[in-house]
Amino acid sequence: MNRRDFLKLLSRALLGASAAVGIGEALRFLSYAPERPPSAFDVGLPSDYPLGSEVLRPEIPALIRHDESGFAALSLVCTHLGCTVQKETNDGFRCPCHGSRFDESGKRTQGPAKAPLPTLPIEIRSDGHVWVSAEPLSEG
Ligand code: FES
Repeated sequence: MNRRDFLKLLSRALLGASAAVGIGEALRFLSYAPERPPSAFDVGLPSDYPLGSEVLRPEIPALIRHDESGFAALSLVCTHLGCTVQKETNDGFRCPCHGSRFDESGKRTQGPAKAPLPTLPIEIRSDGHVWVSAEPLSEG
């Protein structure tokens, strides 16, 4: 085999290898199925939430309260552009992205967000666990 034949063979081998890699990546791209976020979260037993407690659940993100009226879940997703709001030490919530503020009940007190923090449906299911829906209650 002379030098020219060897270089031809080498270039064809490299071209074939790169085509195989390209086809493999294209198939991987076409078969990609994004993982769906859960529609509800199991947040444990009711006894994990003593009367009068407030528990942050960052995986939702939400604040779960238990008072005399029962369980409630407040979404911590800012209604402006979706950042996670942070609990202020004295009262309410503040969005670190653009400075919106919400009071303890989730009502907006300062923009740019225009809507309050939404309430999330919460229930105790037959398995005895507390479940919080990822989708807010619809208004209206
Ligand atoms: Fe919260 Fe913009 S995302 S103020």
